[in-house]
Amino acid sequence: MNTPTPSLPGGTWTLGDLTLERFGYGAMQLAGPWALGPPADRDEALAVLRDAVDLGVTHIDTSGAYGPRVVNELIREALHPYPESLCVATKVGANRDEQGGWPVARRPEDLRSQVHDNLKSLRRDELDLVYLRLGDAEGPRPGSLAEAFGTLVELQKQGLIRRLGVSNATGEQVAEAQGIAPIVSVQNMYNLAHRHDDELIDRLAADGVAYVPFFPLGGYTPLESSALSAVAARSESTPKSVALAWLLRRSSNILLIPGTSSRAHLRENIAGANLSLSHEDLSDLEEIGR
Ligand SMILES: NC(=O)c1ccc[n+]([C@@H]2O[C@H](COP(=O)([O-])OP(=O)(O)OC[C@H]3O[C@@H](n4cnc5c(N)ncnc54)[C@H](OP(=O)(O)O)[C@@H]3O)[C@@H](O)[C@H]2O)c1
Repeated sequence: MNTPTPSLPGGTWTLGDLTLERFGYGAMQLAGPWALGPPADRDEALAVLRDAVDLGVTHIDTSGAYGPRVVNELIREALHPYPESLCVATKVGANRDEQGGWPVARRPEDLRSQVHDNLKSLRRDELDLVYLRLGDAEGPRPGSLAEAFGTLVELQKQGLIRRLGVSNATGEQVAEAQGIAPIVSVQNMYNLAHRHDDELIDRLAADGVAYVPFFPLGGYTPLESSALSAVAARSESTPKSVALAWLLRRSSNILLIPGTSSRAHLRENIAGANLSLSHEDLSDLEEIGR
């Protein structure tokens, strides 16, 4: 008998030629503090990855820079050989230094070496989705991406990358990338309290391109606001559940990648994102990002 496919909150989104659950998983929190070094609890880290896939997650977000390589190696150990339905998305464009910084590394030779490094650490012949990570740790920065993005397009033509995206990008850089080659996704910082990309999300939705908010729960600074707490209390839920449910409701092209290093939190987040928000809730939440 076939096991029925579990259904996750938010339904699905079609990413080019691949249909994904909109509820995914961000793996950065599996490395040590500040995404450097090994996890505090390696067995739990492997169990979180396996549970995510067992619960129906088909989209995992990583980067060779997490650890570095630590998170990719955990993903490989937990999940290789990968289910066909699984998209492992990775990012290139930055390295790590010993202080935990993210020095920019976007010369053609840097990008080629990072793509090969991801192929090796994930044990893949072709990467499912590669984002060119732009800007710096402070956020997006203006400037042409043509040379760096062109390098990834070349690697895509060589069969090393299936799909392309951009991350930490300005609206102009997204448009510039779209003028060079099709992108399936944009990954930028966005959550209830950081809504700079509202217009971009709507533009991408019209283009059929996914938008993947990083720090959906606020990242290293958990989301806090009296309106959020009030909505959570009224719906007998938690601020995290409200934040995730709001993102799913915000636009159908939003794919979630909340991060956690705990199986209990993974389950809480999946259950919480199913919360249905009333018109009153939505209007109260609207005030947070204004
Ligand atoms: N493109 C980029 O430049 C970029 C930058 C940053 C992140 N990302 C990606 O975005 C993903 C998501 O971002 P993120 O993981 O940094 O931040 P996040 O999803 O906003 O929040 C993760 C934090 O929330 C905590 N958390 C999660 N669920 C919880 C729950 N139910 N109860 C209590 N605490 C909970 C986690 O701690 P526990 O581990 O204790 O659950 C962790 O500290 C990353 O994993 C990464 O893949 C991309």
